Amino acid sequence: MKKDFLSLSDWSLDDLEAIFALTRDLKAKQQQRIPHRLLDGKTLAMIFEKSSTRTRVSFEVGMFQLGGHALFLHSGNTQMGRGEPIRDSAKVMSRYCDGVMIRTFAHSIVEEFAAHSSVPIINGLTDLNHPCQLMADLFTVSEHRSNYRDLVYCWIGDGNNMANSWINASSVFGFELRIATPKGYEPDPGVIEKARQAGARLILTSDPCEAAAGADILNTDVWASMGQEEEQQIRAKAFAGFQINSKLLSTANTDALVLHCLPAHRDEEITNEVIEGSQSIIFDEAENRLHVQKAIMATLMAD
Ligand code: CP
Ligand code: NVA
Repeated sequence: MKKDFLSLSDWSLDDLEAIFALTRDLKAKQQQRIPHRLLDGKTLAMIFEKSSTRTRVSFEVGMFQLGGHALFLHSGNTQMGRGEPIRDSAKVMSRYCDGVMIRTFAHSIVEEFAAHSSVPIINGLTDLNHPCQLMADLFTVSEHRSNYRDLVYCWIGDGNNMANSWINASSVFGFELRIATPKGYEPDPGVIEKARQAGARLILTSDPCEAAAGADILNTDVWASMGQEEEQQIRAKAFAGFQINSKLLSTANTDALVLHCLPAHRDEEITNEVIEGSQSIIFDEAENRLHVQKAIMATLMAD
């Protein structure tokens, strides 16, 4: 039966760790220029309803390196953008392609697409979550800290798609996750509830210092996500004080590491100094989108 990659909470720890093991193998092969054409002759369609740099480039390059081909489809230039039913698009794309990656707004769109597709569907970001990014983030931490599942992770800022994905990751991988958001900007209540029922160790606060104190990993994201551009000014006021800067970083563990999925607004949610500082693993994190997604695609789409 085909499997989709819509949310980390749909996957077991063993399966996600197997994806990390394959990631390490594929990354080493890529660095040594050893061919690894696991998707020879296969095609991935990539549907984008929102902008992208990392997701688009890493999936397309990744498919090429695996011996396959990726098609970039901006939804505005497809019949989906003119209102063709999602289920019809899903059925038709399944006849041409071996997998579909979708970046869109409502999470229900990827769920509906997956329900009517006979090929694997990969969530390239929805308003609810961003599971491929989370896999890259955790893989990056694991490269720097072999005990990555035992660390204390901290999220500072908006309770957005990335925060929701960290909650899902916490419930699967078992680490403590502290989340500091302004009041009214908490993560999705349904995601929190489901994770708590699965035993996740979550601490929710509106005090960034409380969340960061003694933490091993500090992580943030923009204050206004794609689709929220009109709220930028009001959010800038609400999120004042929710910045990862050298002062906040100094309250974390001395060897704490800093993540940001990018794109960043330098000197808003994170300072330029911290992004460029010695504790930042942000550009390793961006690179690992490529390696992790190759492993995800190979897991879902290889014969
Ligand atoms: N982090 C991330 O998904 O970046 P893009 O929006 O550039 O794809
Ligand atoms: N929360 C951000 C993540 C971008 C990769 C957004 O949805 O715009």
